[in-house]
This record gives sequence, C-alpha cells and structure tokens, in this order.
Amino acid sequence: MKDQHLLIGETLAFADDPFLNHISEVVHYNESGAVVVEAGKIAAVGNAAELRKAFPQAAEHDYGRCLITAGFIDSHAHYPQTAIIASWGSRLIDWLNNFTFPEEAKFKSPEYAESVARRYLEIILANGTTTVCSFCTSHPVSVTALFSEASKLSMRVAAGKTCMDRNAPQELLDSAVSAHAESERLIGQWHGKGRCSYVISPRFAPTSTPAQLEAMGSLWANHPSCLMQTHISEQPEEVAWVRELFPDCGDYLDVYDNFGLLGCRGLYGHGIHLGRQELDRLREVGGSIIHCPTSNLFIGSGLLEVMERKAGGIPVGLATDTGGGSSFSMLRTMAAAYEISQLLGTPLHPAQLYWLATMGNAQAMHMSDRIGNLQTGMEADLVVLDLESTSAISTAAQRAEDVWQRLFPTIMLGDDRAIADVWVNGNRSATPA
Ligand code: GUN
Ligand code: ZN
Repeated sequence: MKDQHLLIGETLAFADDPFLNHISEVVHYNESGAVVVEAGKIAAVGNAAELRKAFPQAAEHDYGRCLITAGFIDSHAHYPQTAIIASWGSRLIDWLNNFTFPEEAKFKSPEYAESVARRYLEIILANGTTTVCSFCTSHPVSVTALFSEASKLSMRVAAGKTCMDRNAPQELLDSAVSAHAESERLIGQWHGKGRCSYVISPRFAPTSTPAQLEAMGSLWANHPSCLMQTHISEQPEEVAWVRELFPDCGDYLDVYDNFGLLGCRGLYGHGIHLGRQELDRLREVGGSIIHCPTSNLFIGSGLLEVMERKAGGIPVGLATDTGGGSSFSMLRTMAAAYEISQLLGTPLHPAQLYWLATMGNAQAMHMSDRIGNLQTGMEADLVVLDLESTSAISTAAQRAEDVWQRLFPTIMLGDDRAIADVWVNGNRSATPA
C-alpha cells in the first residue's frame, strides 16, 4: 500500500511514568520490534515478524540493531540564541545584557529570523529532536519565521513572542498593550494551524511591568488552550531582584500567581531555588518545572533536585535552554541531568532520563495524546538511534548485558552521529546528518 512503512529494529516505549512505577513494569523494550507508519501516524507497534505478515505491502526499512523510539522533545529553548551558544564567562543578568539582547535585536529583520529559524530546525532535527517549545524574540516576525519554517518541515512546534516592556534595550521593548495585541494576533494566525501551537511568553518577571504581566494573564484566560512559558528562580541574584521589583508579592511564584500566570499549562523554566511554599503551590496547580541542566551548569545557576520534585508530585520536563544551555542535543541534555543527579546523590536511571526527554516533555506540554511515545494512533515523529555510533561508544555498548547498559553510553557520549534516522509526521526527514 502507498505511504505505508515498516520500520524494523529494537523498539522502546513507555506504558507509564518510570519515576512513579517500577521501571521493568512500565518499559516496553522489544529486541525484534517494528513500527508501522501510515499517513503521518503510527499504525502499529509490535514484533517485526508479525507486523511484516500483517502489512505485506509496506515499504521496509531495516535498521538492524538500532533503537527506534519516539522523537525527542525539547520543552524550553530560545531559537534566536542559536548564534550566541557557548558565550564565555557571565552570570545570568550580564549574559542577557552582553550576549542575548544584542543578538535578539537582529530579529527585527525577517530575513535574518528566517535564516536562523531554518538553521536551528535543521540542527535540532539532526540531533533527533522532532518537537520544540521555543521562545522567539519580541518581534512578531521572529514568530512567523519559526512557524513558517517548521511548517515547511512538517514539524510540531510550540512557540511565542517573548514579551518584555522593561529592563532590556529600548529596541527590544514592547508595552503591555502592544504585547497583548501582537500575541493575540499571532494566536489567531498560528495557534492550531497545522502542527503549530502558540505559547504565551512573558520572558520573566524582571523584564515585565505589573501592567504587562496582567495583560499576559488576561490573554491566557481568554486563550486557555495555549501553553504559557516563562522563567523562574534560576539564580539567587535574580530572585533577590524580583523581591525588590515586586515587594508586595510573597515570593517569585506569587508574582505569576497574582497576575493569572500560574496554571497547569504553565511551563516554568529552571525553578532551582524555589521555596517550600512555591513548591506546594506549583503542585496544587499542576504547573511544570522545566529542568535545563546544561544551562544551569553553563551559567552557574545550580542543581535542580529532579528526583525530589518528581517524588513531591510536581511535573518536570527536560530541556536544552539553547543558547544559555550549551547544547542542541537532548542526548547531551540527558547526560547533564544524570551528572547533576549524581552530584545530588539521587542518580536518574536511563529509563527516567529517556522518559523525561520524550513522554515527560509531552505531558508537560499537554501533548502526550499525540507525541512522545511509540503507540498506535500517535503522530509518527520518531528517532532511530545507532547505539554504536563511535568506536568509544561501541566499545562500551558491546559489553552491555541489557538494553539500559547498551543505551547509556549513547546517552553519555552520543551526539548527532548517533542519530541514524529521523521521521517527522510520517516522513523520513531530509535534513539529518
Ligand atoms: N531568564 C530570562 N531570559 C532568559 C534567557 O534567555 N535564558 C535563560 N537561561 N534565562 C533567562
Ligand atoms: Zn530560557
């Protein structure tokens, strides 16, 4: 049959959250697995021999001992920071002023925005990331550029105009009124169009006046199917600044709460230094902390206690935070999350790392009915991992006694060479390496 594909290899899927259940009970690993893809969806997942019989006309793609899983999801990134990744030597506020804001100012040019958006999407696809939730800049054209380029590639992308009306260079500032109007216009243009969804995106409390935060809160109330993304409690200096700027609010989370910016569709980047009350409130509303481990190390922000947050019932996602993060790769991001968890004495299991990079992020983004897992009926966004992509990785993987020992060297040492193939919306992606 036309447009029917049978992908053969090892397969890995999740039946449930490996933080809350025994790993062996929630992981479906099949050494002789296969996935059938048809019309953009996963039509079947099962044993290779059985699916070959059931779908005799499907075009066969034999990936040997490669591992087929859901494509990676990156739940917090800044595509406009592609060119300033790996900028040396500052803490958060200096880094924003010295590197981030001057680069973001360039996105008033639609041509520049389009060229970076295209290159960014190519880079993340080459790293196996099939969905991203990204900040844009304050220029509406930066949003149009990302959604347009993503649409050409059939990628599911969530993004929004970064709103800020103070404490940034004049050329990047909007206002309460214009941020509301421009965001609302972009929602009308892009939210739910194809695979695009709009994310209301106040940058963080220090760069918005109370009037702008209020406008963003009322926008969200009027468009409740949108996600909302922001930053919270990344560095102690920032937390102290927020206390000065909002003396009437009890804590950082309370600022967002006060202005209608706290909810279960809220994605709160970093959240390293949250206090007990903030954590209790976040759990109550079901908002997600997005863990950005390479960024938290690179900008020197601190160590997020993922195991404790998950045990405490708070949803956690995992993200690159490019370009504060030092990588575009969710493999590298999983590795950094592991290293941080080791420093905290609570090592994350490879199943937990992999779940965060796929299903955990899909849940945080309220898209787990569509993406993030190998499951019949889901959208066919897949990554095929070569678990022996380099001599070093292969040497380690060959002595493995189970799938986790085979996968872990790729998590810790892997890069875009480990991405054997990527499928987006049921088609083999043209762009990877
Ligand atoms: N806080 C506010 N804006 C940013 C940003 O662009 N990157 C990071 N890491 N933190 C932020
Ligand atoms: Zn960020």
